[in-house]
Amino acid sequence: MRAGIIGLGRYLPEKVLTNHDLEKMMDTSDEWIRTRTGIEERRIAADDIDTSDMAFSAAQMALKNAAVLPEDLDLILVATVTPDSPFPSVACRIQERLGAKKAAAMDVSAACAGFMYGVVTGKQFIESGVYKNVLVVGVEKLSKITDWTDRNTAVLFGDGAGAAVLGPVSGDRGILSFEIGADGTGGKHLYQDEYIIMNGREVFKFAVRQMGESCINVLEKAGLKKEDVDFLIPHQANIRIMEASRQRLELPEEKMSKTIHKYGNTSAASIPISLFEEVEAGKIKDDDLIVMVGFGGGLTWGAIAIRWGK
Ligand code: UT7
Repeated sequence: MRAGIIGLGRYLPEKVLTNHDLEKMMDTSDEWIRTRTGIEERRIAADDIDTSDMAFSAAQMALKNAAVLPEDLDLILVATVTPDSPFPSVACRIQERLGAKKAAAMDVSAACAGFMYGVVTGKQFIESGVYKNVLVVGVEKLSKITDWTDRNTAVLFGDGAGAAVLGPVSGDRGILSFEIGADGTGGKHLYQDEYIIMNGREVFKFAVRQMGESCINVLEKAGLKKEDVDFLIPHQANIRIMEASRQRLELPEEKMSKTIHKYGNTSAASIPISLFEEVEAGKIKDDDLIVMVGFGGGLTWGAIAIRWGK
């Protein structure tokens, strides 16, 4: 028996911050941001919307789409580096609001790779037969840890949430293989002091190398080839990094998810938001082979090969 994704949800704040808005706030240009990153605009959560509010909305939608009741959830994992407060966790906050009384709940801290870490963790509980329904949320309110005077980072990030309900699936469907990893020696390249501090070039080099390698590794582990892949969902960090992964898999442009132009880098939320949008647009169909891949501060990385469907 394999674990798979049986329902998806997402939440995006209403407020849109465009590159042109940023031009008025700092020494940058729409042209620089678009050509170097692929970002055109991003969403910013209102002051009275915190991380758990976004997580709750995305979770509610995922549960509805999965036709799973909150009281039937066994475990809630929330991947975030921007919790409302260190404790209680965002997972505990939404456990209360959902009324998921029997669910264990904890946050996962693996930065932009957090959703991958969460899905891989949830899969273990389902496939060992211990739990049936696991909710995994990737959510960030990065705007609250962004230095709005630092053009190196402020132009990149956005707020949002994506959620997936994991459960047992039938036949050949479900998570076929995964890879998660970390290299703490690279922690100095991307971290939070008060605000996000980043050595963009070092992170870029790491991301290009690691995303490509992780994609190939999960295919090998599943006994599959590049040509078997129907769709790639890369972490939406920078279009140039995403393109490098796509080229490594030799996929045509239309087989890679691209939401970065609308939402920027939403860290742990970027993969589930993109997945939600591709499924909703009908681009991902039952039995398609999907590769998801992410990387982030830590440094961390994670990839999953999944055969779509319940
Ligand atoms: O989820 C993980 C989070 N992090 C990432 O994914 C980041 C990975 N890294 C990147 O995406 C890229 O390295 C960046 C987009 C951050 C930067 O692109 P780059 O092509 O590596 O540019 P650079 O850092 O080499 O900077 C080139 C120039 C510099 O000017 P000089 O020194 O050549 O005169 C920067 O000061 O661009 C300048 N610059 C900017 N100019 C206008 C840096 N940021 C900006 C900006 N607007 N926002």
